[in-house]
Amino acid sequence: MCGIVGATGTAAVQATLLEGLSRLEYRGYDSAGIAIQNTSNGAFNRVRVVGKVQQLVDQLEQKPISGSAGIAHTRWATHGKPSERNSHPHMLDGRLTLVHNGIIENFLELRADITARGGRFESDTDSEVIVHLVAEFIHGGMNLAEAVRRGMSKLEGAFAIGLMSSAERGQIVAAKRGCPLVIGIGKNANFIGSDVLSLRSFTDRFLFLEDDELAVLDSEQVTIFDGDGNQVDRATEIVLDQGDRIDKGGYRHFMEKEIHAQPESIRNTLEGRITSSEVVAQTFGIEAVDVLEKTEALTIVGCGTSFYAALVARYWIEDLARVPCDAEIASEFRYRNAALPKNSLFLSLSQSGESADTIAALRLAQTRDYLHTMNIGNVTTSTLMRDSDSAIAMRAGVEVSVASTKAFTTVLVDLLLLALVLARTRGFPGEEEREIVRALHTLPEKIEQVLGLKERMQTLAEEFVTKKHVLFLGRGTHYPIAMEGALKLKELSYTHAEGYPAGELKHGPLALVDRKMPVVAVAPSNELLRKVQSNLQEVRARGGKLYVFTDEGTEFVPGPDVTIIEVPEVHRVLSPIVYTIPLQLLAYHIAVHKGTDIDQPRNIAKSVTVE
Ligand code: F6R
Repeated sequence: MCGIVGATGTAAVQATLLEGLSRLEYRGYDSAGIAIQNTSNGAFNRVRVVGKVQQLVDQLEQKPISGSAGIAHTRWATHGKPSERNSHPHMLDGRLTLVHNGIIENFLELRADITARGGRFESDTDSEVIVHLVAEFIHGGMNLAEAVRRGMSKLEGAFAIGLMSSAERGQIVAAKRGCPLVIGIGKNANFIGSDVLSLRSFTDRFLFLEDDELAVLDSEQVTIFDGDGNQVDRATEIVLDQGDRIDKGGYRHFMEKEIHAQPESIRNTLEGRITSSEVVAQTFGIEAVDVLEKTEALTIVGCGTSFYAALVARYWIEDLARVPCDAEIASEFRYRNAALPKNSLFLSLSQSGESADTIAALRLAQTRDYLHTMNIGNVTTSTLMRDSDSAIAMRAGVEVSVASTKAFTTVLVDLLLLALVLARTRGFPGEEEREIVRALHTLPEKIEQVLGLKERMQTLAEEFVTKKHVLFLGRGTHYPIAMEGALKLKELSYTHAEGYPAGELKHGPLALVDRKMPVVAVAPSNELLRKVQSNLQEVRARGGKLYVFTDEGTEFVPGPDVTIIEVPEVHRVLSPIVYTIPLQLLAYHIAVHKGTDIDQPRNIAKSVTVE
């Protein structure tokens, strides 16, 4: 999704802006651009490219731009195709320049009005209306900051913006509503960025804007104003470097590195959260026991992979704690008039903490009668973690690859801990909790063992390269895992894949099964195994080719049309976490064989900050 970076200082900023942009690459984008002010005359030099930040770097190496203040952008096309003229920074008459992340929902009306007043547009984007609006207020006699504040009041939708004017040299005006934007405080320089990570090389001191606030930056100071133009005092926060290195560490792709980091990320998320026999209740905040004791129902929301984690949690929470639990797609929840059971806990899941739909779901929950709002997130400075009543860190470490892997397994671990603490408040037997906690202690080693399936998955992947469709089946907690396996395959390799509850097969999808259709089954040994085995017979009877992930001794008989992949045996509650790993490896290796852009698949973004 679009990324913003800006810097104003006493030294040249080109390298700073490019470094910031390269740190935002993980969010996904299709074009990039930079505008730097010539501080002696206020004019801007701008370069924009369709493609990667590296192309911008190459062009600027040939022809560098000097200047000590500038803004830069990576664009993920929403309005108007990826092209140079649609790329940011946008510029008006060489005097005003803008970068924008988000969507302006009333841009068609604004554009028509501006055109009627004689404005001429150079791009197809919604963003360009902002430059025109601000320019009109400047023409009316306002300074840049005041013009941005007035311009914002005309905008509907979500945005994070950075603007510069040739009249106010060395000044950046930044503002946000519903999209992420942070301010970095440096020495003789100040910065704006879409996240803390983008500014990590320059500072560890940050200011966080609230929605509808505006910041005015120059090399010496940052001043924040509210939507009415009143100055706001905001404390600087130190965000320490957590030692997250953004390199591939010898792996071919970030995704491969992140798949292999899972034993460590799971170890990290468990650290201090379990004793030898139980889950530490304070993991979920000081008031956790009180809140969980009062909780009579849960609503868990998330998007994509985070939603699948919510679905697994629903099985755990209802099974272990016997508390009714709803799992919802955030984009549906936000527009649904959901009936709210008494004493409900609202829980959002989000790796980035900036998914626009999940934030909107939280905002809705804040207006409803929820007992408490909680978030499990991976970015401690994110909107969802900051704005929920309590927040729990996944501790997955930075996830760069667009496709989520280690964030999914760590959030599952945290959700299981939550289910256990909730269960304890409902009289769940201590012996059973002890048994699961003992199994959790061995989980990182189990994951190491499953990663040993890498070569097998590499070979198996060859059989899938020419397939157009793949069906994934599971039951119980493994039904969401089947959907997660299908999602990983479609986003990485562009192969059509569906995840289905195996019991639903005969209600429709069985019609698709023939000799060309691979069917992947997630079938660990548990109380549903016999049921899954019968469902798979239905596939065999139609000539479908089966790939069964199961553990030793489950009596699946391999054959020409049945491939068995043995997964190490694990406590039945933990199996959804363990069975996720081979499906990640399979999708990854199919994508490697197909030669797709694994870390940044086409059309999708890491941090989905627009609706
Ligand atoms: C899929 C994937 C997405 C995200 C979704 C939510 O691999 O990564 O489906 O899970 O966009 O993102 P977060 O968790 O950041 O809210």
